[in-house]
Amino acid sequence: MNERTQVTDATPIKTLPDAQTVTEVQHYTDRLFRFRVTRPASLRFRSGEFVMIGLMGDPDPKTGKQKPLLRAYSIASPSWDEELEFYSIKVQDGPLTSKLQHIKPGDQLILRPKPVGTLVHDALLPGKRLWFFATGTGIAPFASLIRDPQTYSDYDQVILTHTCRDVAELTYGRELVESLKSDEMLGELLEGGQDKLVYYPTTTRERSPKMGRITTRLEDGTVFRDLGIDGITPGTDRAMVCGSMGLNTDLKRILEGFGLREGANSEPAEYVVEKAFVG
Ligand code: A2P
Repeated sequence: MNERTQVTDATPIKTLPDAQTVTEVQHYTDRLFRFRVTRPASLRFRSGEFVMIGLMGDPDPKTGKQKPLLRAYSIASPSWDEELEFYSIKVQDGPLTSKLQHIKPGDQLILRPKPVGTLVHDALLPGKRLWFFATGTGIAPFASLIRDPQTYSDYDQVILTHTCRDVAELTYGRELVESLKSDEMLGELLEGGQDKLVYYPTTTRERSPKMGRITTRLEDGTVFRDLGIDGITPGTDRAMVCGSMGLNTDLKRILEGFGLREGANSEPAEYVVEKAFVG
């Protein structure tokens, strides 16, 4: 499955509060899809942040009133993009994604233009190497950050790890990384140094060149051997983590074991964490 539908010159018709118009939808698997929407002219955000998006819920059986059904979604597009991109799971009985998975170009969705989040450059102290650790749809904020030129001017090397169940679930990230090489603006930045952006995909339930959870590969040192790196140290390395509760808890322990401390917008440090949206 790799179906893509697109409209051009979409003009938002404001019938919903904070309405934006869907411009493109691409389905990757029966569990994953990507969509793009128009961007409110006034919306400014930092790469890695999230906004609340959603649809109107079903009418209340008693009052007939409809309430917006909103969830936090990382903006997957970079801040210079004139549209906004999102990458989503499809949960068949999920209150929002059971409906959201059927959106088509020209449809409207609700987007509250108040971006927030901790997976931002401002929450990290300066360093030399930046790690992005993602599982599943947790790659979304990093899809924004790997398209942000600041990522490459602030760091000598950027390593994006993505762990999914099977190979098809890696498609969005793989295609994105490939597309950067031929990108007019970013391609040049990536050529600047050898392996400026390293992509390290692993699968846990289907055979692929790199099998296993990223946590296991960090703990047994396989990642470092594969990449020819001595290890992770607070002097040089910074990390951003986005995945399930399990991944986030395990990686926090591993990164703290390497001596990294958790940062925040108000107090930058060596690593930051956010939970990937799962419903
Ligand atoms: P696994 O197949 O061993 O559960 P999901 O699709 O359920 O969101 O999972 C995405 C990926 O994250 C899967 O490959 C899954 O591996 C992996 N994963 C789940 N929990 C953890 C964890 N605690 N640490 C590392 N990887 C994890």
